[in-house]
Amino acid sequence: MSWKKLSLRTLNARVFEALGNNLNYHDSAILGYPATYLDQEQFYLDAPFLKQSPFLSVLVHNPNHIGCHTFNQGETVFQGTQALEIELLKICAVDIFKAKENSYDGYVAPGGTEANIQAQWVFRNYFQKEKNAKPHEIGLLFSEDNHYSVYKGCNLLGIQPIEVNVEKGGDHQRQWDITHLKQQLAKARADGIKYVIVHLTMGTTMFGSIDNPAPILAEVKQYFDDVFTHVDAAFGGFIYPFTSDDNALTFANPDIHSITIDGHKMLQAPYGTGIFLCRKGYMQYTQTEEASYVKGTDFTLCGSRSGANAIAVWMILMTHGYEGWKYLMQTLIDRTDIICDALDKLGVEYSRHPQMNIVAMKATDIPKEIAKKYHLVADDFNYPKWVKIVTMMHVEKSMIDSFLLDLQKAKQGG
Ligand SMILES: Cc1ncc(COP(=O)(O)O)c(C=O)c1O
Repeated sequence: MSWKKLSLRTLNARVFEALGNNLNYHDSAILGYPATYLDQEQFYLDAPFLKQSPFLSVLVHNPNHIGCHTFNQGETVFQGTQALEIELLKICAVDIFKAKENSYDGYVAPGGTEANIQAQWVFRNYFQKEKNAKPHEIGLLFSEDNHYSVYKGCNLLGIQPIEVNVEKGGDHQRQWDITHLKQQLAKARADGIKYVIVHLTMGTTMFGSIDNPAPILAEVKQYFDDVFTHVDAAFGGFIYPFTSDDNALTFANPDIHSITIDGHKMLQAPYGTGIFLCRKGYMQYTQTEEASYVKGTDFTLCGSRSGANAIAVWMILMTHGYEGWKYLMQTLIDRTDIICDALDKLGVEYSRHPQMNIVAMKATDIPKEIAKKYHLVADDFNYPKWVKIVTMMHVEKSMIDSFLLDLQKAKQGG
């Protein structure tokens, strides 16, 4: 594993070195770019604190990471900071998601929504180019617990949404209902769908459930020969691989073709740090060759993107190292266990995957004032059936105690 913690001194030096390997608008002869450093009235380059803050320094220098640097060399002007993006993608793909070295492409996207849609775009274009498919012949298969970005993608790309129910109650952990899956597959085939993109989730938005690929894909392959599988690990990607010993949603599984992971959720990176990864051999299907003024052209939905975002993710990863991050994620699981133990005693119905930090509680079991006081998020703003707690880093034991005490008092009618 190449992912080792770095000392603060080394980490800062590496970022300043990377920035030094970029050309910069301050003292390099850059005449042709429609870009520059950040506004000098507001973000002046000689602010003394910038010397201690490599991230803010990169932000102010404003490098653009446009393109896909695992695929080809992009704009040489920013190759210093691009190299750290390539390093962070390697940690995510190889160390966390078990890809073989140099077997993947990827980039730091604006968020999980774009990374999910990028996957759909890549595979739609593959089917169109290689199989002569029409968009209405391509289905996107997902469960009812999926993030709504699946619908955005279908709407934008003209592909067909196919939603499958999940099992409710018992020990099923909201797994896909295989009987309904079979019905939906048969219907899709009858409706003229010939090609399928399966969208699985590692950590669904409301329940934190983890899709089990084997039974789903076995069924899909009974009905369709041409199948790609994307894993939406936007929420779970920086926790579940560290808290579970048995993760079937990685590149070690030959059925998995692409993965979304969000730095701006569990990793505590700034917004703008979605991560898209896919196996080599597919990124070229979204190459926009008309982007001829960009060195290396473009492959992404977003185009220009801040190099500072990639640096933020790299810095967080290198601050903790693999072992440090695993330890931190386990502390969140321990805190979530405390909540669930107390809910058991109070007789509150809830759904939670044991290696995840989301607890979805039956809305009727939680008084409205408590849901409001603790800003619990409902599955449906107007008609809540479930309200959730997400044990993020700021959810300290004292906050949990206070919530549980209020709940206990309410249950006892006090
Ligand atoms: C599972 C899942 N996928 C995708 C997203 C979308 O992420 P973003 O808001 O970064 O676009 C979310 C957001 O909550 C999510 O929970």
